[in-house]
Amino acid sequence: MIVKKVLKLSAFVLALIMLAQAASAPAAAFESMSMTREEWDTYYGSLRDENTLPTLCTGADETQLNITWHTDRETAQAKVQVAKNALMNNAVTFTGEIKDAENENQVVCRVVVTGIEENSTYYYRLFTGEGYGETYKYESKGFKNHKALVVGDIQIGGQQDNSEEQSRVGYNWLCVLDEALSKNPDISYLVSPGDNTSTGRMANEWQTLLMPPQLRSLPIALAIGNHDKKGFAYNYYTFMPNEYYGKYFEGLDRDFWFCYGDVLYLFFDATSGSAYDHFGMAREAVESNPDAKWRVAVMHQALYGAGFSPYDPETMILLNGVFQPIFDMFDVDLVLTGHSHAQGRSHFIRGGAVVGLAESGGTFNNPRGAVYINSNAVCNQAKPAPLAPWLAYSFKESDVTAYSTLEFTEGSLTVKTMRGDNSELLDSITINKTKDFNDSYKFSVKRLLYYIVEMLGLLYMKIDAVVVRIRGGHF
Ligand SMILES: [Fe+2]
Repeated sequence: MIVKKVLKLSAFVLALIMLAQAASAPAAAFESMSMTREEWDTYYGSLRDENTLPTLCTGADETQLNITWHTDRETAQAKVQVAKNALMNNAVTFTGEIKDAENENQVVCRVVVTGIEENSTYYYRLFTGEGYGETYKYESKGFKNHKALVVGDIQIGGQQDNSEEQSRVGYNWLCVLDEALSKNPDISYLVSPGDNTSTGRMANEWQTLLMPPQLRSLPIALAIGNHDKKGFAYNYYTFMPNEYYGKYFEGLDRDFWFCYGDVLYLFFDATSGSAYDHFGMAREAVESNPDAKWRVAVMHQALYGAGFSPYDPETMILLNGVFQPIFDMFDVDLVLTGHSHAQGRSHFIRGGAVVGLAESGGTFNNPRGAVYINSNAVCNQAKPAPLAPWLAYSFKESDVTAYSTLEFTEGSLTVKTMRGDNSELLDSITINKTKDFNDSYKFSVKRLLYYIVEMLGLLYMKIDAVVVRIRGGHF
């Protein structure tokens, strides 16, 4: 009898300890997916000719996930099962929509999973025609206080459609993810400022991009870059929330937005000059999320970035003319860009000028202006350019992919940039914020002048469409 009581008490105490540990446990770590180059080549070779790996995208907010995948047209059903146990007991089934794929034999399934809770473990599986397929584990991380990962120009395929080059870039992509996620196991999602693929039209580029197993548990938010715009594949392999097709956008053009915790992300398709539509997306996003504390813009081209490309007349005059006023009118805090393949960070910029210094290691309270982070690339790095006057930091190594993290806590944002091979800290700043947004987009001189930009943007779009047709795609 006494033994039984002791056993019962021990079990009770053990349960209490386990509960306490669970309550105080840090976010579950990403499992290390390290492979040697030889192991990767075998893995890559076994998967490259398929196109059915799912894309796990960020949802409209932190409680949602968007999932898309290709499957046979004949047997397709847009269904995802989600459970809190690997045996899929008591699984909840989410259904979505089926869209045409880029080929006749397949369709694209798109499903939104809702009800995700923070720091929780889920298992999910997709309907693949012959029943439900492989079960994947998804571990959500923090919501309000959270960390995002930023990696630029993944550009699977490098500069060409070449299987060996694709494998090399794919392996670099795997290694950067492995390094970033093993050193930052609390990362909630990944932001890519575009050029996710090289030719923009090859299914195997997307298949390679999706190969790192970490991506089954890491939602991604992918801006469109000029390389993605060379074809239409982006359309079939992504499912971003709140896709905004605007009034004058053409073809693949689109913006999108989503919220995560206190952060509102505005993703702009910078290959489109439709100022009218970009402004419209920003207004819709801002007015739908009046309580967001932070506004982060993401676009591909390197406004106030490092390297040579920010000096392109097209970037300096046209893109700056379209986007800078939007960032100012909507009081954007942070702008994430890529394209130049050179890592750098700006001082505080407003109205096209430096309005405050943001030296590395500093903490800044309620600064005026936005900071621009320009990511280098997974595929290859540009040669270092002279330090531009707007830059506070520039990474001089020309053969290492870097990654950045955005850490959001109550009223503060810390941006860190690390080497992608050993996570050595290269640059960091912290911004504390208590002030409200001005929202001068509602009425201001800048807003009135922007009507002219909107008209010029439409004219530019017409000219650009002819130029793109002549040169056979975007640069
Ligand atoms: Fe680019």
